[in-house]
Amino acid sequence: MRIVNATERHLDGIMDIETRSFTDAWSREGVADYLDAPDGELLVMEDGDEAVGFAIYHVSFEDAELYNLAVRPDCRRRGAGRALLNAALEGAASRGARRMFLEVRRSNDAARALYKSAGFAVCGVRRNYYDSPREDAVLMDFTL
Ligand SMILES: CC(C)(COP(=O)(O)OP(=O)(O)OC[C@H]1O[C@@H](n2cnc3c(N)ncnc32)[C@H](O)[C@@H]1OP(=O)(O)O)[C@@H](O)C(=O)NCCC(=O)NCCS
Repeated sequence: MRIVNATERHLDGIMDIETRSFTDAWSREGVADYLDAPDGELLVMEDGDEAVGFAIYHVSFEDAELYNLAVRPDCRRRGAGRALLNAALEGAASRGARRMFLEVRRSNDAARALYKSAGFAVCGVRRNYYDSPREDAVLMDFTL
């Protein structure tokens, strides 16, 4: 398994993971915008030709934001999520970011446990931020 910059050939696998992971999934066009993005990366973990998980982050000056992170349901709890998060943190730092922010559904215990164990701390709440279903977003940040 290895983490690489995603290309067009990864999009079907990434969209399969995206739609199986989120009730409010991004569109294919929205994900494809991050192929070759100048100010961010779409990272994919691949096992042979198969996408196992992916992460999208964006950097603006000293602030980075983790936009998306998901692992194929049958591949979870094997360290892929942590590896993708670490790769996003390293990539953002190498682009000059000093902090990374993210938003996560309040009820998303798995993701919140991952972020907490990686050193992210809660820094705010956005009420009713998400739709499908409506739910608060918890904001977390990490100093790089
Ligand atoms: C969140 C997600 C990316 C984690 O990916 P993963 O590959 O399963 O995570 P890892 O195996 O690297 O786990 C790292 C740590 O996260 C925590 N964790 C992961 N899944 C967990 C779960 N179901 N319950 C509790 N803690 C969990 C644990 O601390 C774990 O460490 P451990 O296995 O040593 O106990 C995955 O569950 C996922 O794709 N969920 C759906 C999409 C999503 O919610 N993305 C986040 C949006 S903000």
